Amino acid sequence: AGLHTSAVAKGKLYFGSATDNPELTDAPYLTQLSNTDDFGQITPGNSQKWDATEPSQNTFSYTNGDVIADLAAKNGQKLRCHALVWHSQLPSWVSSGSWTNATLLAAMKNHITNVATHYKGKCYAWDVVNEALNEDGTYRDNVFYKHIGEAYLPIAFATAAAADPDVKLYYNDYNIESAGSKSSGAQRIVKLVQQYGAKIDGVGLQGHFIVGSTPSQSAQTTNLAAFTALGVDVAYTELDIRMTLPSTTALLTQQSTDYKNTVAACMANTKCVGITIWDYTDKYSWVPSTFSGQGDACPWDKNLVKKPAYAGILAAL
Ligand code: XIL
Repeated sequence: AGLHTSAVAKGKLYFGSATDNPELTDAPYLTQLSNTDDFGQITPGNSQKWDATEPSQNTFSYTNGDVIADLAAKNGQKLRCHALVWHSQLPSWVSSGSWTNATLLAAMKNHITNVATHYKGKCYAWDVVNEALNEDGTYRDNVFYKHIGEAYLPIAFATAAAADPDVKLYYNDYNIESAGSKSSGAQRIVKLVQQYGAKIDGVGLQGHFIVGSTPSQSAQTTNLAAFTALGVDVAYTELDIRMTLPSTTALLTQQSTDYKNTVAACMANTKCVGITIWDYTDKYSWVPSTFSGQGDACPWDKNLVKKPAYAGILAAL
């Protein structure tokens, strides 16, 4: 059995992959993406972000996002929807607008309401707020925090819940996969949203790791428990494990162990609902263009051949 089939057999909801619109013209790529033995869930890597969905104020564009949503529906895969409020990939009318508290609140609510209403019934989960934290656990001084303060978080969750009452609402971030200031900050966000009386269903741990310095299985298990003790689900939402190139046999073996330990941590927590890799093949990974000199972060290589990481994941499922 493949990754998704095995994950479901052990009580998880899905094993999935991110994808992106330009990749879908690659027929062999699309065939494997649509193989529900391995992938029972997909996430649009870019096409539901603010710059894609509302490029100018109150003009909404869903063409590319709909392609991914329709593919998920056609394949019978769950869709993780990503992301409503984030400081990055914002159109300049948001990031450089001259805002007051009232005008930015109205624009943020309008964005969330329109996008979540458009995709109502199609998403398993929404990443409502993405990456609100600095590494030390304080709030990023993004445009929303500047003009609205921390209230933007619970207000975003309440607005998403009003638009789609059935979708799971997630806070999503990276470097929150082991205990520390940033993970504590994410726990503080969960409590903030709960205290405000808004719905928050889960925390997404992105899981952008580095071969050889991936947190240990026990460190990840302990950390997941700190979140689920707050009454929320958890999921690994963007897992990939990069290395400094060129890859070696030793690096590929360590990568397989790092994938296995991470998947095992999710398996050990009944409230860890699933795992999503941030695309499945090195051919389309975001890593080389973002981290200079690094790559080969995915379980399939550039030729769509399974690497040792695939067996590592499967061994934990
Ligand atoms: C990345 C995409 O994969 C790239 O194609 C894009 O150029 C930049 O964004 N954290 C997130 C994702 O939440 O949305 C990011 O995706 C990777 C880091």
